[in-house]
Amino acid sequence: MFTLDYEAAIPRLVVAIVVLWLTWKLVAFFKPRNQHTLRSVAIVVLGDIGRSPRMMYHAESFADNDFFTDLIGYGGSEPIPSLLNRPRVRIHYLLEPPKWLRALPFIVSAPIKITLQIIYVFSELFTIPNPPEFILVQNPPSIPTLAIVWTVARMRGSKVIIDWHNTGYTILAMRFLGNTRHPLVLVAKWFERTFGRAAYAHLFVTNAMREFLVKQWDLQGLKVVLHDRPPRRFHQTTPQGVHDLFAVKLQKSLSAQPSLKGFLPASDPPYSSAFTATNASLSDIRISNDSPSPPTSVIDPIYSQVQLTLLREDRPALLVSSTSWTPDEDFSILLVALREYESRAAAADKKLPKILVVLTGKGPLRDKYMSEVGELQKKWKWVRCISMWLEAEDYPVLLGSADLGICLHTSSSALDLPMKVVDMFGCGLPVCALNFKCLHELVKNGKNGLIFENASEFAEQMETLLTGFPNCPRLIELRAYLQPTSERPTSPPHHLASSPEPPEDIWESWDDNWARFVRPLILKDVRRDGA
Ligand SMILES: *[C@@H]1O[C@H](CO)[C@@H](O)[C@H](O)[C@H]1NC(C)=O
Ligand SMILES: *[C@@H]1O[C@H](CO)[C@@H](O)[C@H](O)[C@H]1NC(C)=O
Repeated sequence: MFTLDYEAAIPRLVVAIVVLWLTWKLVAFFKPRNQHTLRSVAIVVLGDIGRSPRMMYHAESFADNDFFTDLIGYGGSEPIPSLLNRPRVRIHYLLEPPKWLRALPFIVSAPIKITLQIIYVFSELFTIPNPPEFILVQNPPSIPTLAIVWTVARMRGSKVIIDWHNTGYTILAMRFLGNTRHPLVLVAKWFERTFGRAAYAHLFVTNAMREFLVKQWDLQGLKVVLHDRPPRRFHQTTPQGVHDLFAVKLQKSLSAQPSLKGFLPASDPPYSSAFTATNASLSDIRISNDSPSPPTSVIDPIYSQVQLTLLREDRPALLVSSTSWTPDEDFSILLVALREYESRAAAADKKLPKILVVLTGKGPLRDKYMSEVGELQKKWKWVRCISMWLEAEDYPVLLGSADLGICLHTSSSALDLPMKVVDMFGCGLPVCALNFKCLHELVKNGKNGLIFENASEFAEQMETLLTGFPNCPRLIELRAYLQPTSERPTSPPHHLASSPEPPEDIWESWDDNWARFVRPLILKDVRRDGA
C-alpha cells in the first residue's frame, strides 16, 4: 500500500531546491552580457595584490574611468590605500594554498596547488554578479590563470586583456637550471602559447617583450606597449620631508649604525639632521641654496615658532639602491666602484662630497656583502654604505630625498625593466645603472641618468655628477629632465592621444601613460543604446 513517507520527502525537497537554485545560477551565468550592463572589469593576478603595483594601478585607472572593478588575488600585504576606500573597487582575496603543500616536492605539490587555484579562481570569477566586460590578467604566472580566464571569457562573453610582464615558461626554466627543453618547461610553454596567443588585447612592459612574443608566438589581437610608470603619489621630497625622515623617523636607526660615528656632520635632532637644519637651530650650520623646491614654512608644535627647514650645504651626498639581494645583482661592482670613489675623493682636494649609500631591502646575499663592505669602510674617510629596512610609506620619501639612485639589476630574460628605477624616476631621482639589453627603453643615457658597463666607469660617473656638490650642474640637469610633465610647458596628454609614440623627452605619469595607451583600447568598444 502506498503511504507518503514525510521523512524521506524532506531531503528530496531540499535536493530539489538546491538543484533549482543551481540551475538558476547556471542560467544567469551563461546569459550573455546585456547591453545595459555597467562597464566593468575583473583583474586577476595570481600573486599578492599588495605586491603587484602594476595591477593595483590598473585597477585604479579602470575605476577612474568609471569601470566597476573587481580585483582578484592573494592577500598578504596591504594594497595601496587609494584602492581600499574606493566605491567602484571590490577586492576578492583568494584562499592561500595549505601550508603543508610546501613540505612536498615541487612535482607533487604543483599539481595539487594548481587544482586548488583553478577551483578558487573559478569560483571568484563565477560569483561576480554581472559578467565583466573585460578580464585583465597578469602573466606570469600563466598556469592555470590563462586557461581559466580564456574559459570564463568564452562562457560569459568577456574580452580578455593579457598584461605580459614576462614569460612564465622562462621563469619555470630557471627552476631547472635554465633548461628550456625540460619536459615540464615544454608543457608550460605549450600552455602559455595556446591560451595566451589570442586575446582582445595584449599589453607589454617593454618593446623588447612585444617584439619577442609577436615573433615567437604570432600573437593575435591588439598589441600595446605600456611601460611602467610611477603612481601619482611619488614625487621629490621637500626639505621639510627630508628633515622629518632623517631627524625623526630614521634618527634612531641611523645613530645605531656604528660605521656612521664621526662620518656625518654634527646635528641636534629633532632640530637638525645630517642633511637638514632649521633657521632656528645651530647657527653655524651653512644652509644650502640649492633646495630642490621652494622651502616650506611650517608651524611646528615642537618649536612653537615659525621654522624654515632647509638642506644643509655640508650634507653628504645621499645615494640609494633598493635590492632583493639575489644573485642577479652584482654587488661586487658597487664595492669596487665605492673603493675607487674613496681614492678619487681623497685626491680631489674637497671638490667631491662624502657619500652615504643606503641599500634597502632584504635578501639572501645581504649579510655577505654588508660584512665585506663593513671591513672595507673601516679605512674609508669619504664613503659609507649601510643597509636599512624601510616601511613602505617611507620608501618613496627616501628616494625623493636622495641625490642619486643606483641600479645593478640585470634581467634574466632581458625583456623586462627594473621597477625600482621607475620608482626613482617618479621621485625625481636620476640614476646610474648597469647596462643590459633593453635598459635604454627606460634610462636615456645623459638625459635622466647615466649607463655604465663596469665599476670604473661607474666611479667616474659619480665623480662627474657630484663634483662641486651640492652645486653640481650635471646632476641638476638630469633631475630637471624628470620634472613632472604637468609642471613643464607641454600640451596636456589628451591632446597627444593620437600620436603613437610619446615624444622622446616626456616622462609621463602612470595616469597619462595609461590614458594614452590603454584608454583607447577600452573605449573603442563603447556600447550605446540605439547607436
Ligand atoms: C626663520 O625664517 C622664517 C622665514 O623667513 C622667519 O619668519 C622666522 O622668524 C625665522 N626664524 C628664526 C628663529 O630666525
Ligand atoms: C669599462 O668600460 C669602459 C666603457 O665601455 C671601457 O672603455 C673600459 O675599458 C672598461 N674598463 C674595464 C676595466 O673593463
